[in-house]
Parts: sequence; structure tokens; C-alpha cells
Amino acid sequence: MNSFNVKAIKSLHAELSVPGDKSMSHRAAMIAGLADGECVVRNFLPSEDCLNTLNAMAAVGVQYEVLEELQGFGPTVIRIHGRNGKLQAPTKPIDCGNSGTGMRLLAGLLAAQPFESELFGDESLSSRPMGRVITPLAQMGANIEAMGEKPGCAPLRIHGKTLQPTSYTMPVASAQVKSCVLLAGLFCEGVTTVNQPAETRDHTERMFEAFGVVTEREGQAIHLRGGQIPQARDFRVPGDISSAAFWIVAASALQGSRLLIRNVGLNPTRTAIIDVMRRMGAKITVVVSSSQDGEPMGDLEICGAPLTGTEIFPVEVPNLIDEIPVIAVAAALAQGKTIIRNAKELRVKETDRITTVVNNLRSMGGEVEEFEDGMEITGGHPLHGAVMQSYGDHRIAMAFAIAGLFANGETTIENTACVNTSYPGFGKHLEAVMQEATDTQAYQIPTIVHSH
Ligand code: S3P
Repeated sequence: MNSFNVKAIKSLHAELSVPGDKSMSHRAAMIAGLADGECVVRNFLPSEDCLNTLNAMAAVGVQYEVLEELQGFGPTVIRIHGRNGKLQAPTKPIDCGNSGTGMRLLAGLLAAQPFESELFGDESLSSRPMGRVITPLAQMGANIEAMGEKPGCAPLRIHGKTLQPTSYTMPVASAQVKSCVLLAGLFCEGVTTVNQPAETRDHTERMFEAFGVVTEREGQAIHLRGGQIPQARDFRVPGDISSAAFWIVAASALQGSRLLIRNVGLNPTRTAIIDVMRRMGAKITVVVSSSQDGEPMGDLEICGAPLTGTEIFPVEVPNLIDEIPVIAVAAALAQGKTIIRNAKELRVKETDRITTVVNNLRSMGGEVEEFEDGMEITGGHPLHGAVMQSYGDHRIAMAFAIAGLFANGETTIENTACVNTSYPGFGKHLEAVMQEATDTQAYQIPTIVHSH
């Protein structure tokens, strides 16, 4: 599907589960690929980004078998044959597609191997800053050339070598940079330390622990002793809260709605979206919670309520950075002002998400002021349908499809194939939600991710 045509809905009573977590699926492909035996990864996200990472691992010798597949998308249950920490030289450049996470984490892994490799990506990824991983890796002795037209950008030519441990203080709070350095640190002799300026998502540390790799936490510093090899085990990926966020906002903003989202990851470094929506007045309950393979997960019940604007706290920003486009939509649907600042990182995501959000919100009649590091949205103005670009950015496409559910008239989002980057099947869920609105009957949204 290359565009979404969206109409307003009047009710939303449904139950759904979202595909597997993107951050964890990338890490599972890498960590299982390094493990000392076979690992079955369940509920793997069959999105373009994660499949590129899986195939990147295959390019360095990791074999895998698909045990289950989501038709039309790709593997959801995979048996990965870990290489006991020893990878093979790739025979050609490795395609990371659209994925900053894939490229940055792989850069750490590959910088420490005794071979040359090259990572490249699409136009968007080729314009995103890679200096943020090249700098710490160079401090460890790595030799990486950024060969892109834009300075400091991909393709990356990696001349692998033995690295030295380091203590690195990140200038920006980035889980990708932290994970890159920790993955490189696995191959060093001695202790590598990453100091975070603020808490970032901790999936790497948790997955390391699940696979028997010890890290130590001291305040915002993470220490890792090199030479550890992940111990093979199976891993189940919870649903992606960043994908659930679109439906959390839709249900929260629609009075009288009730939505149940099953088996979603509830790692506290990712749940600020729930805190923010609750602050705006949303009624969100965690109805079941459990923990599996080191990651908290549960079922969320969301009931619609009148929303009011809020201010995003600086410490929350890394926790909800990927949700800001859809939070901006919630803000436009709320009464009063919402202030989002300290979020300059949005400018170096798949698109400049400050500009793309501001453009699209304005095209629907939203009132928004743009800042270098964020935006201020004055909600409560009725949104009208419009024809909009996704700019090739999956989260922009999905956030504005949600806005379309609340607009007068029809909304068209163009160029929406990009949603496969993180949420294959989003279009199907969107159609199901819209059908329910005209049907008036409760509609069971198909559970598109089958896992056993
Ligand atoms: C990710 C970390 C975040 C996030 C990205 C996934 C990860 O980026 O925006 O979608 O999996 O580590 P930064 O760590 O660069 O902020």
C-alpha cells in the first residue's frame, strides 16, 4: 500500500497486539548470532530494518532458519546458530537500509573483528550522523572511514582490529551509541565503561544479562568486562510500545473508546509515553503484567477521555523520543498548550521530525510553533483532512494517519510503504479501526503477529 486514505472514526472498541519490538529484534539478531549455540527468537519483528540486521549477521557467517513467517512480511520465529563470538569476513558491502540502530550497533560489532567490512544505507540513513559512533570507537583504536557525500556519514568502511577498552562519556543520551560501544567492548581485554548523560533504553544490558553476559551499573555508568561470549538461549520479543503508541493516542483521544493492547513491552526506559498520556488525562491501566527473558511486558487497557496539554520533562525525552510525532498529534487534539523542548535529536532521525511534524500538523489546521529543539502546540483547533507526505518516515506516516482519524474530511498520507520499517501490517490495523467506526459493531482487530 502506497498511501493511506483516512476518515474520522466515531468509536474504537477493540483488542489488538502490535508486532515485536524493533530495538530488541535488532539486538536479538546480533547477540544470538554471537552466542555459543542455537537460539530461537520468537516474535521477531519482520520489518525491513530488522531483516537487514538479520541478513547483516548472515553476511558475517551467522546461519539462521525461519521457523515461522508472517505471510507477505517475513520471519517471526527464527533459529539462529550463534558463532561463539567468531564472525566471518563479509564478501560484499552490508545493506542497513533505513536503520540507524542497525548501522550504529553493527559498527561497534564489526570494528572489533579481524576483517574489513562496509556498511551502507538508503538516502535517509546516508545523511544521519555517524560521528557519534566513530568518535568513541576511534578512542578504542578503531579505524572507520565515513565515506558519504555528507561529512561523517555512511557508507562506513570499517578496518577491523583489536580494540582497547575505554571509558566514554556520551555527549548525547543515545542508546544506540551506548550499545555500539558495549558491543565493541565485548571483544576488548578489560573493562569498557559508558557514561550516560541521562537514562537511555537499556535493552542491550538486559539482553546481555539474559544471555549470561554480565554488566555492572553504577549511577548512569555501565561497565562491561570484555571476553564474555553470550550463552545460547531462547528469547521472546514483546510487542513494541513505540508501535502501540499510535493506538494508545487514538484510543486516549476518543471519548467512549476502549482498547486492549496485549503483550506489549513495558520496560521502564520506554514507558514515558504512558506517563505523558496519563498526565494529559488519558485513562490507561496495566491490566496484566509479567516479565519474560528479562523484559517487563503486559496488557494495556486504554479508555478515551478529554485530554489537556502538558509539558514534556527533559529527562523523559530519551525515553519517548520515537513517540514525539504521535504525542504532537495528541497535543493537537488536547485542550491547551503542550511544550516539547530539549528534543533536538528529533532533527537527526529518519527525517528532521521537528520540521516534518510541524509541516503536517499545520497542513491539517493545527497551531504549532517550531523551536530549534522542539515545538509548542496549542491544541483544541479542529483538524481538517489534508493531503500529506510521509517524507519516507515510518513514524510520520503512522502519526498522521492517527491524526486523520480525528479530522473533518479525508486525509491522505502519501508514500506509506515506509511503515514496513517498524510496523508491518499497520495499514491493515488502520483499515480495521476505520471499519469499526462505520460498522458500529465491536470489531476484533486481527492479531497480525503470531507467536508460539
Ligand atoms: C534506539 C534508540 C533510539 C531510538 C531508535 C532506536 C535503539 O535512538 O530513537 O529508534 O534501539 O537503541 P538513540 O539512541 O540514537 O536516541
